[in-house]
Amino acid sequence: MRVRIGAAVAAALLAVTTAVAPAAGAAAGQSSRPSPGEPGAGDPYFPLAGNGGYDAVHYDLDLRYQPPTPAPAPLTGELDGVATITIVPTRHLTRFDLDLRGLEVESVAVRGRPAEFTREGDELIITPKTILPRGKAVDVVVTYGGATGRPTDIEGALYGWVTTRDGAMVASEPEGSMTWFPVNDHPTDKATYDVAVTVPEGLVAVGNGDLVGATTQDGRTTWSWSSREPMASYLVTASVGNYELRQTTTPDGLPLIDAIDRDLPPSATAGLAQTAEMIAFFEGRFGPYPFSSYGAIVDDDSVGYALETQTRPIYSRRATESTVAHELAHQWMGNSVSPARWQDIWLNEGWATYAEWLWAEHDGGPTAAARFDEVMAIPADNSFWQVVVADPGPLGLFAGAVYDRGAATLYALRSQIGADAFDRLSMEWPSRHADSTATTEDFQALAEKVSGQDLAEFFDVWVRTAGKPML
Ligand code: TRP
Ligand code: ZN
Repeated sequence: MRVRIGAAVAAALLAVTTAVAPAAGAAAGQSSRPSPGEPGAGDPYFPLAGNGGYDAVHYDLDLRYQPPTPAPAPLTGELDGVATITIVPTRHLTRFDLDLRGLEVESVAVRGRPAEFTREGDELIITPKTILPRGKAVDVVVTYGGATGRPTDIEGALYGWVTTRDGAMVASEPEGSMTWFPVNDHPTDKATYDVAVTVPEGLVAVGNGDLVGATTQDGRTTWSWSSREPMASYLVTASVGNYELRQTTTPDGLPLIDAIDRDLPPSATAGLAQTAEMIAFFEGRFGPYPFSSYGAIVDDDSVGYALETQTRPIYSRRATESTVAHELAHQWMGNSVSPARWQDIWLNEGWATYAEWLWAEHDGGPTAAARFDEVMAIPADNSFWQVVVADPGPLGLFAGAVYDRGAATLYALRSQIGADAFDRLSMEWPSRHADSTATTEDFQALAEKVSGQDLAEFFDVWVRTAGKPML
């Protein structure tokens, strides 16, 4: 479902340099003198996404959503919420930020006492009544709400809380969670989540993880979901629609909860039929499935792509077999081990695409070798080869090369280090960095460790420089 970027667009992307601000004052955090948290986590691509000075460890979101009234009403809904965020300060903290774009903040309380707050761009700046001691967990309660729309990312793709005719599709990569809740919006700060969404009776709100319950009162149903495993903020969803919930269990005992839009024909979900087999297949390659449940959200509206929202990927209108394999592989590659910086996204998309190749080959389709050859048949002067896969630029996150050259890199790495070492790498990568984040350098280091080879030149050629690798 991913959008291919044409040659013209790819060329335009190259004009964009990565000349962005360096990490916001990492040095400031070390002192024991009380100080404010930085407004950004320091990601070179999205400097103000995330924040400094604390770790968010748990989010409890209690939301109420009113979708648009029937057509031809404009696509705007009403979202109101109380976010209770447990944070652990990493210094004595005088002030800190959460990320929040749009919506209105009614009040903020810290440790049960009202706190002062201001807004500046996407920063919600909170000044507690007293200094927050380093290492001591406190609850931050933000009461907020307002009209919802159809936000877009820097490329112009829909993301965040995307209002639809009958609900919302919520897909927030890379920093779109801030469009619907106050958040430390960077993958390096994973947290557990409890999300409850109250919607008009008849609609279903689907979150990540386990369904805790659904209770109806006065014409509204509250759907409560719980994610016990830590999750990056971009992987959180709370999609609302005219869904049918289908609850089953795989032969291995993993609960599957699918939410399928009632307006879709059976053909739209045919690609989900082999989900249990795919899980078993990828467990054989990548190790045990990393979470406590799985399933799909298939909406009859569209954001233009699918997203691997944790435990419950969301699909636009149709879940094809290859996309289902792709989003499932992301649960290991991307969700359990996530990019430490957005420039490392090829570790998500390269692996998920390579996994598509593996599944297709296993299922009687084209071989991985044929898919690799297809990529290598792209002429050297094609702009496809101009993307630096391990540094594609903020506008190149979803460039075709991040996916296909990324997958080809893994295929070539297997030839370079041999099948045995590659199989160990495929297992060790997601287990070593489970529930955490890692960089391209971490990946190279592990590949070198399992193979005993110096792979500096290999990674330079394949992911750190533009130009078609010579075989
Ligand atoms: N991560 C998604 C996937 O590959 C793709 C994605 C997210 C995307 N946002 C996007 C693709 C915006 C194109 C445009 O499964
Ligand atoms: Zn992907």
